[in-house]
Amino acid sequence: MIEIQSLNKIFNENKSNEFHALKDINLQIKDNSCVILKGVSGSGKSTLLSIIATLMKPSSGRIKVNENIISKLPDLHASNFRAKHIGFVFQNYNLFNSFNVYENIAMATTTLNLNSNEIKENVNKAMKIANIIHKENQTVSNLSGGEKQRVAIARAIVNNPELIICDEPTANLDKENSQNFLKMIKELKTLGKTIVIATHDPIFDELDFVDEIYYMEDGKIV
Ligand SMILES: Nc1ncnc2c1ncn2[C@@H]1O[C@H](COP(=O)(O)OP(=O)(O)OP(=O)(O)O)[C@@H](O)[C@H]1O
Ligand SMILES: [Mg+2]
Repeated sequence: MIEIQSLNKIFNENKSNEFHALKDINLQIKDNSCVILKGVSGSGKSTLLSIIATLMKPSSGRIKVNENIISKLPDLHASNFRAKHIGFVFQNYNLFNSFNVYENIAMATTTLNLNSNEIKENVNKAMKIANIIHKENQTVSNLSGGEKQRVAIARAIVNNPELIICDEPTANLDKENSQNFLKMIKELKTLGKTIVIATHDPIFDELDFVDEIYYMEDGKIV
């Protein structure tokens, strides 16, 4: 599913504040696996996730997702590719606070040119899986942290992507909501999704549905 070869990311290249954030990363992630990226703050986890999700371009190296070489996709193609194939759950959720739950999720479908019935069907399905359908008309600013996260997950899965990427998904959740999140990830895996999660949380250490745990240190996978 994901093949990463000799990947490097250098921020501010050729400037006095140049920073080599990813150093010759090689990694393969299999279809329908659940992979955890661990490592101290600043080790490069979010940078790697952003590059896999086509939100950022690498300085060198190659990434294939589903046989598509995404490392050099022009921006417009990258956003179309992302909309169809990748769901990203951001640590701070990145929701539109003044819009309601339904609208936040529906917005993610716009690049797919669906008709209104198809949008409704897909949004309802995603809200059911993420267990947030009972709040569909509530403004996001009035939701709890765990509820906001479920909206973020519903938005990540609404276009039925094969790959779901989560950055520190439990950092702002209490124990109960973290357990609910794990249940949801397990269910998404049984639906055939590939899941990549960056986290510090020891809750991910001994789970039956986690296939690989990789440790990052100073921009490398160790
Ligand atoms: N746009 C940028 N410009 C310059 N340096 C950056 C930029 N983005 C990230 N970095 C640097 O790259 C390194 C890796 O950052 P990254 O956000 O990937 O770390 P992380 O492992 O996700 O950390 P955390 O656990 O704190 O989220 C850090 O030292 C960071 O300061
Ligand atoms: Mg990070």
